[in-house]
Amino acid sequence: MPQQNDRHARAPYAEALHQNAQQGWTRLGVPGHQDQPHNYPALQSLAGSQLLAMDIPMFTEGVDLPAAGASGASPLQEALELAADAWGAKRTWFLTNGASQGNNAACLALRGLSAHVVAQRSVHTSVIDGAILAGLSLEFVNPNIDVDLGIAHGLTPAALDTALAMHPGAAAAYVVTPSYFGAVSDVREFAVIAHRHGVPLVVDEAWGSHFGFHPNLPTSALTNGADLVISSTHKLAGSLSQSAMLHLGHGPFAELLEVRVNRALLTLQTTSPSAILFGSLDLARRDLYYLSHDRIQASINDVNLARALLAEGGRFVDPSPAMLASPDVIALDPLHLVVDTSSVGVPGFEARRLLEATSRIHVEMATDSVIVAIVGAGSRLDAGFLVDALHALPEPDSKSPRQRDRQPIILPPTGPRARDVREAYFAEAEVVPAVQAIGRISGDTLAAYPPGVANVLPGEVITTEVVQFLQATAQAPYGWVRGAVDAGVEHLRVLLEK
Ligand SMILES: Cc1ncc(COP(=O)(O)O)c(C=O)c1O
Repeated sequence: MPQQNDRHARAPYAEALHQNAQQGWTRLGVPGHQDQPHNYPALQSLAGSQLLAMDIPMFTEGVDLPAAGASGASPLQEALELAADAWGAKRTWFLTNGASQGNNAACLALRGLSAHVVAQRSVHTSVIDGAILAGLSLEFVNPNIDVDLGIAHGLTPAALDTALAMHPGAAAAYVVTPSYFGAVSDVREFAVIAHRHGVPLVVDEAWGSHFGFHPNLPTSALTNGADLVISSTHKLAGSLSQSAMLHLGHGPFAELLEVRVNRALLTLQTTSPSAILFGSLDLARRDLYYLSHDRIQASINDVNLARALLAEGGRFVDPSPAMLASPDVIALDPLHLVVDTSSVGVPGFEARRLLEATSRIHVEMATDSVIVAIVGAGSRLDAGFLVDALHALPEPDSKSPRQRDRQPIILPPTGPRARDVREAYFAEAEVVPAVQAIGRISGDTLAAYPPGVANVLPGEVITTEVVQFLQATAQAPYGWVRGAVDAGVEHLRVLLEK
C-alpha cells in the first residue's frame, strides 16, 4: 500500500483541463474542431456523457470485427474503405499517434526499398526520428526561406530534380506541403519528377488533410500523383487530437509500398487503438465528404472577411503576395490566416501574447513577424472579433526600433556529416559548453524556430556559425531552439569521440 499523501487527492491535469474549458477561448489553432460543438454535433456525441461506453477494446465484434455470424466487411473495414475513397487513396490506415506515426511508418517502409532517401530539410522531426528508427540516411534539399518574414516554405521542382539526380538509387523523394504557414508546393510536378527518377513521392500533408474537399481549397497530394501521403486529420479536418491517416496512392509504387507500410504499422501501432479516435476519423471523413460543402465555404468566407476587414483598416500589410512570390509556392490555403503584425510595429510573438491576455484568442503560432491563425474546415471564425482585437494592438513605442527593420533570417550552412544519423543517435555522448562543442559531432537534432528548419542533426559537425545562429535565436524574445539541452543553447550534446 503506498503511503498516504494528500497530493494524490488532486488530479491536476484533469482539473486544469476543466478550468481551461471554462475560460471561453476563441481557438484559432489545432485541433480543427476548435471546440465548436454546434458545428460538430456528431463528434461531440461520440464521447460526451457516453465516454466510457464508447471506449471499447479492439476486436469488438460488430465494430472492429464483423458481427457474430455476419459475413462481409466489418464496420472498421468499411470506415477505412470509405476514407480511402474520400481521399482518393488505394488504401488508408487510421493512426492513433498522429501524423508523427505516419512519418515513422513511412521511413520504416522506405528502408525496405533502399538505404537513403532524398528529403526536404524542413521535414518534421518525426521524419528524422523515423529515419533513425529505420536506419535510413537522409539526403537533404533545402527549402526556400522567406528571410524577411522568417518563414520556411517548400521546394521548387527544379531543386527536387537536382537532388534526385545527385542521389541515384534513393528509396523516395520526401517532401512537406503545405507549410505551417499554408503555402502549397507543386506536388503534381514533384510526382512527375520523382517518377522520372524511378522513385515514389512521399508527401507529408499534415497541414492539408482537408485539401481537395472543396473547389476553393487546394487540390490534394493524392490527386496530384503522390504515392504515400501522411495526413494529420486532427489539424484542420475535424477529428480528435492524435488521430491521423496514412494514405497509399494508386500510382506505380502502390504494390511495392503497401505490404511494407502495413508491416511498419503493425510494428508502430498500439494493440489497443482508441475506438474514440477511430470514430472521430470516421466522422471527419463523413463531414468533409458528405456534409461540408457549404460549411467549408462558410469557413473560407469567414477568413476572407477577416482579410478584407484587415485590408480595410489599412494598418496591416498583407503578407500573401510576398508568400505567393516565392518560387516554390503555387497556392495558399485559404484557411490559414497569416497576419504580419510587425507591419504595425508589434512582433508576432507579442501580438500572440496580447491576443491571449486581452481577448482570450489563441492562435496556432507566432514568429517575430507574423501570427498564424487557422480555421478548421467546417469551423467558424468571428472575423469582426479577431480583427477588432488585432486593431486594438498598441501603437509601437516610438523609441523602440520598428519591427519592419528586423534582421532578415539567414540560415547558416549546415556542418559536414561525420557519422550516420542513427549511429550518432546511439553513440556515447556528453554535454559540453557550447564553445567546446564547436568542431565536434552532434548527438542531437536542433532546430531554431523561426523558421523551424533543423540546423544540426545527429552525426553532423557543429560549426561556429551554427552555434551563433542557435544562440542568437534562443536569446531573441521570439525564438526557441527545439531539441536543445538548455533554453539558451549554452550547452550541446556531442559524441564522446572527437
Ligand atoms: C509537417 C508536419 N508533419 C507532421 C507533424 C506531426 O503531426 P502530429 O502532431 O499529428 O503527430 C507535424 C506537426 O505539427 C507537422 O507540422
